[in-house]
This record gives sequence, structure tokens and C-alpha cells, in this order.
Amino acid sequence: MLRSSNEWQKRNNRVPDAESKRQRRAPITRVEMMSPQAGEDLERGSRNGAAAPLGKPRNSPDEPKVDLRFRDVRYSVEVSKTKASLMGGEAGVKHILRGVSGAVESGQILAIIGSSGAGKTSLLDVLVGKVSARTKGLNITGDVNVNGKAMSKSFFLENAAYVPQEDRLWSALTVRENLTFACKMYSPMLSRGECSKRVDEVLVSLGLEGCQHTKVGNIFLKGTSGGEKRRTSIGVELVFLRKILFLDEPTSGLDAGSASEIMDLLRGLASDTGMIIITSVHQPSSRVFNSFDQVMLLTMGQTAYFGPAVDSLAHFARLGHEPKGLVNPADYLLEITNSHFSDTKAVQRLADAWKETPACRALDTRLCAPVSPPLAEGSKAGWLSSFLQLRALVVRTSMNSLRDPAVYALRFTV
Ligand SMILES: Nc1ncnc2c1ncn2[C@@H]1O[C@H](COP(=O)(O)OP(=O)(O)OP(=O)(O)O)[C@@H](O)[C@H]1O
Ligand SMILES: [Mg+2]
Repeated sequence: MLRSSNEWQKRNNRVPDAESKRQRRAPITRVEMMSPQAGEDLERGSRNGAAAPLGKPRNSPDEPKVDLRFRDVRYSVEVSKTKASLMGGEAGVKHILRGVSGAVESGQILAIIGSSGAGKTSLLDVLVGKVSARTKGLNITGDVNVNGKAMSKSFFLENAAYVPQEDRLWSALTVRENLTFACKMYSPMLSRGECSKRVDEVLVSLGLEGCQHTKVGNIFLKGTSGGEKRRTSIGVELVFLRKILFLDEPTSGLDAGSASEIMDLLRGLASDTGMIIITSVHQPSSRVFNSFDQVMLLTMGQTAYFGPAVDSLAHFARLGHEPKGLVNPADYLLEITNSHFSDTKAVQRLADAWKETPACRALDTRLCAPVSPPLAEGSKAGWLSSFLQLRALVVRTSMNSLRDPAVYALRFTV
């Protein structure tokens, strides 16, 4: 059973004391993603000293407000004739995102919904900088700003995290070991005791104490359940408290109960810690849907609605789309904007109608409003922390290789 992050905050006392202030001033470190790809990240540089303690979040009320805005994001890709014949589809320019804008601030959760292929993952990829105008073959324009400054790679590394749709955990390590190594990578200067305390807090908050000594597992190795794996993936990013957390479908493949628990946890984290959470989400229940501060409904790479979840049905009712009887609002919105099953022209009319609404104009005004002061960026990594991170990386990789039968199977076949 998940504990609410309220409880988490209470236990950890949010009132800033001298110690938390000292630690907030301390250089902050992290590796881009605590995934098996982390080695590459380490090679790329960044990283240094101690991170803010989980229990005393850097997003406490005396912290500066974080204001994330993205404006007119456009993303297209050139599909060559060869690629089109191999992958199917037509050659030419494929428009994936067509001028998408939004704004979200500290303590809010923005849910990106839309039918399959609407552009949810693509938008997250642009927001987290996974794809950019520099990526070969892609044409990406638009701004992504945090407190008025373009979101830089170094800002992202220090203050944000991305939990992708597929779990990137070390399958032969236990849940606890995965979190511990994440802690050692993000905060190499923490003592073993401090790291263990932080891991305990995350385990309790995510309801993972019961499976903390179970191996994560993979197709060769029986391990944790799908829900436990997903929670561990989120936990890996929470051993170091962020200002902004991006998640791609954190509930995909989970049963309704587990999905609601994860969404409740994210809701609590945003409101209790002031973290911004931006997540794509697949078919949330009515209760979860109505708890979102903001919802962005995408269709064919365009916005069909952006605003409070509770106002969304009224918007579509004004456009002549009113559900018959009681429905799950998310299901209904996906149904009327699904270009694969509905009339494409009718769906396009919904996207066009959004641009004419006062809410869309209000968003444009908000995007031009004065911003909160820019946030300070951390300093460069020291050699000691880089060395400790490298050591943790080597130990983790060796442990995983020694324990994973898949590695032996591969060696045997090669
Ligand atoms: N590099 C690419 N080359 C060609 N088409 C692409 C590329 N990346 C994304 N697309 C296309 O862009 C559209 C949006 O993809 P995206 O993965 O963002 O959708 P999604 O909303 O996340 O869907 P799902 O719910 O299935 O995850 C899809 O039609 C996809 O095929
Ligand atoms: Mg997706």
C-alpha cells in the first residue's frame, strides 16, 4: 500500500533548518538517468558533490517558484522513400507536433492525454531535450523555458528527471540495490548511512518495503511485478528530489488499482513538495482525471484542450460534443479526438476550435506574462565525486553481470 507523500513530508519535517540551508547551498549532482545507459552520461561529464536531502525538499515554500513554459513547439521529420518502404507510410515531411504550447508551475501536475500517435511521447522528448533541432533529420522549433531561461542540459541534469515508458533498471539487482546505486550516483558524497536512510524513505513512500530484497527481474529471471518495477523506476529518480519530473505513461501495463496508486503518489508529491510533474497518461480513471491541475489533450500533434481537467467536458459540450449519460471523461475525450476511428475532418475542427477559445487566448497571454526570477545553476563536478560515481558504476555493472543468467546465456551462444 502506498503511503501518501504527505506522510513522507511530515516524517521528514519540511521546516527549513540550518542543516537544510547548508545542504541547499552545497553543490548538487546527478547523472542524467540512472539507467544502464548511465555510463555514457558519466563519460559526458557534469556531476559533483552532495545533493539536497530527500526529506528536506529543495522545493520548500522558501524556494523560488518554478515556472515552466513551452511555446509553439513544432516537430517534423523527413521520411525518405527508403524509410517509408521499410517502415510503411508515405515519404515526405511528417508533422508530429504542430504548434503546441503550455505552462505549468511549482506544485502542479500536467497530464498529457491523447490517443495513440497523438504526439505525447514526442512532446515529452522535446521538453526533456531528448530530441532537439540539432538531432539529425529532425526539424524542431519552439521554446522551452524555465523561469524565462531556455532549459539547458545542465539545468535539466541538476533539477529535472525523465522516467521513460520502458523500465531501465538493473534486472539482477534487488529493488533496494537499484535505489542504493542510484543514490550513490546522484549523491556520491553522501555517507553510507545517509544514503541508506534516503533509500528507506523512498521505499516506504512508494510502498516497496515488502519487495526491497527481491530482484527486479527480466524475461529470464523471475522478479518483481510490473507495478513494483514501475514504482522502482520512479523511486530511482526520487532518491534525489527534483524540481521537475517528467514521466511517460507511468501507469501503462498496470491494473486500475496500481495505476491509481501511482497517480495518487504523483499528485501528493506535486502538492507537498512543490515539484512540477508532467506526465503522459493512458486512460486515467474519472477520479484521477479530475485531480489533474491541468490537462493537455493532443490530437494529430495539436492541442484540442489545455486547462483544468474539471472544465474539459464543458469545453467540448460548447462545441456540441456532450456525452450521453455518465462516462469516464478521459475515455470520452480520447474517443472524440481519436483520428484513427473518428472522421479526421471532425477531429481537425476540434483542434481548430480550441485556437478560437478565450482559454487559448488566456494561455497565450500567460506565456507572455512576466516570469519568476531565473533559478541558479550548480557548479561543476569535483574529481572526488566523479571518482565515487565511477566506482559505483563499475560495482553495479559487475554485480549485475555476475548475477544475470542472460549474460551467461549470451556468452554461451556467442
Ligand atoms: N522519428 C520518427 N519518424 C517518423 N515518425 C515518427 C517519429 N517519431 C514519432 N513519429 C510518429 O509521430 C506520431 C506521434 O508519436 P508519439 O510516439 O509521440 O505518439 P504517442 O502519443 O506517444 O502514442 P502512444 O500512446 O502510442 O505512445 C506517431 O504517428 C509516430 O509514428
Ligand atoms: Mg507514447
